[in-house]
Amino acid sequence: MEKVIVGIVGNGNISPIYLKNLTTVFNRIVTVKGVCDLIPERSKKAAESWDIPVIYDTMYDMFKDDEIEIVLNLTTPKQHHGVAIEALKHNKNTHSEKPMSVSLDDAKELFDIGKEKGLLVGVAPDTFMGAGIQTCRKLLDDGYIGSPIGAAAYMTGHGHETWHPDPEFYYEQGGGPMLDMGPYYVTALINLLGPVKRLTGTSHSMFETRTITSEPKYGKVIPVSVDTHVNGIMEFENGAVGSIVMSFDMWKSEHPNIEIFGTEGTMQVPDPNGFGGPVRIQRKDGDFYEMPLTHQYNENCRGVAVADMAMALRTGREHRANSELAYHVLDIMLGFGKSSRTGKHYELQTSCCRPQPMPMNVIPGDLD
Ligand SMILES: NC(=O)c1ccc[n+]([C@@H]2O[C@H](COP(=O)([O-])OP(=O)(O)OC[C@H]3O[C@@H](n4cnc5c(N)ncnc54)[C@H](O)[C@@H]3O)[C@@H](O)[C@H]2O)c1
Repeated sequence: MEKVIVGIVGNGNISPIYLKNLTTVFNRIVTVKGVCDLIPERSKKAAESWDIPVIYDTMYDMFKDDEIEIVLNLTTPKQHHGVAIEALKHNKNTHSEKPMSVSLDDAKELFDIGKEKGLLVGVAPDTFMGAGIQTCRKLLDDGYIGSPIGAAAYMTGHGHETWHPDPEFYYEQGGGPMLDMGPYYVTALINLLGPVKRLTGTSHSMFETRTITSEPKYGKVIPVSVDTHVNGIMEFENGAVGSIVMSFDMWKSEHPNIEIFGTEGTMQVPDPNGFGGPVRIQRKDGDFYEMPLTHQYNENCRGVAVADMAMALRTGREHRANSELAYHVLDIMLGFGKSSRTGKHYELQTSCCRPQPMPMNVIPGDLD
């Protein structure tokens, strides 16, 4: 297969793992030709560390390069839309970090322009393509715990200002626990149970400011302009009912990341912000036991969706982390806030198909 040429906009904190995986694990499928960052030292460091031939002065220089087929957008949430829409206008396929956009209108614009122009629009996360959640998908589809009754998802932490060097964006529009961590959980739930038809939510914020304790901004006090504790209930189209808690306000909890409750048993889904296990199930009144992972990719394989998009470009098949899925995920995540503000149920404006399961017997670096 002729390799697909990728350019990366944004060479900040998350970019090294993408550069590592795209230049090693998936280098039979893609080639990273160039990088670009508003802070030139970052693109220089990325190019030197991963032997990337081109540093573009601006993203527009990358978009004008006819060889680039996929623009990988690793900017912060409020910047995702502006970068992706410009890339699409320049006839580039795009894959952006999560969330798809910070408003549903912006996400719709990306979705529509991709369809109009016949370009692929992808969005993180791709952790649902990893061994852990793919094993859960197979167990569920094979009927190991019977028919799904419901689900519970829990993400608790105290925010990212203790470790991220520039954590301000986590407390601005597009941040907060739901738009930051929700994509992992909601995407995993849709992959397992299918789309959501109606939801309700209640959300608030306990702290008006946060104090950065990471370097180099140690001691800087930043305002909180998003809800940092979100509770929701989701009614899935298949009849299952799920609850979700996403918090940057709580310290710790021993609640499992995700549990799926079925008519024959319960499944504990591993951390959807990772690729591996453990996957634990119990049936009827038996105890929980760990199941072996059935699929490839149990290490940090961020970038697998970019390789999947590249395969889709060459073969014409669907790609998994696609805009229909991400648009529905965003609709759900923003819907909790809408429900909280109006005091009413929120009927989803969007829906999606469950992504195709990953194949079972591929060697590392392959997808089909
Ligand atoms: N940091 C993590 O651990 C992590 C994990 C998973 C996902 N993410 C997601 O990845 C995205 C990026 O996060 P990050 O932590 O790397 O942020 P970051 O602030 O460290 O990096 C973003 C980079 O994008 C650059 N940038 C912004 N607009 C640009 C433009 N128009 N042209 C060129 N460069 C531009 C900035 O200069 C910056 O270097 C976010 O959406 C975040 O939610 C981050």
